[in-house]
Amino acid sequence: MLTNRTFTMLKPDAVKNGHIGAILDMITSAGFRIVALRMTQLTTADAEAFYAIHQERPFFGELVAYMTSGPIVSAILEKDNAVSDFRTLIGATNPAEAAEGTIRNLFATSISENAVHGSDSDDNAAIESAFHFSGREQF
Ligand code: CMP
Repeated sequence: MLTNRTFTMLKPDAVKNGHIGAILDMITSAGFRIVALRMTQLTTADAEAFYAIHQERPFFGELVAYMTSGPIVSAILEKDNAVSDFRTLIGATNPAEAAEGTIRNLFATSISENAVHGSDSDDNAAIESAFHFSGREQF
């Protein structure tokens, strides 16, 4: 169980708009240690599997199309209370509701193009980390 780790993706809008450096700086400045990092592009099969929990949602097709539309940066982050603290740092799913100074408040453009993903539980952090990184890629 990775109780002090969480998983994140910098989504295609954040990468396309040139925000990789600024977002990683906010993450490390907030006390997270990057223990795995990769720039990649999800295939449709990857995105459908990663977001399988949302497959009955009306936005599933839009979500998969968007998440495969360009490169992303995936990372595993370590900090005490990582899952909860990271969700505070990124702000609400809908950037219109994200608190001032949060990553989504600063960088997201819409509820679908919302700049970053953050795991919602320790269990999902472990599942999502293993989906993207082998054990030898986690430091
Ligand atoms: P995230 O929480 O990282 O993972 C699920 C994603 O689905 C979420 O970010 C949004 O990008 C997307 N999403 C959630 N709700 C909606 C919605 N109502 N319309 C479009 N996309 C959504």
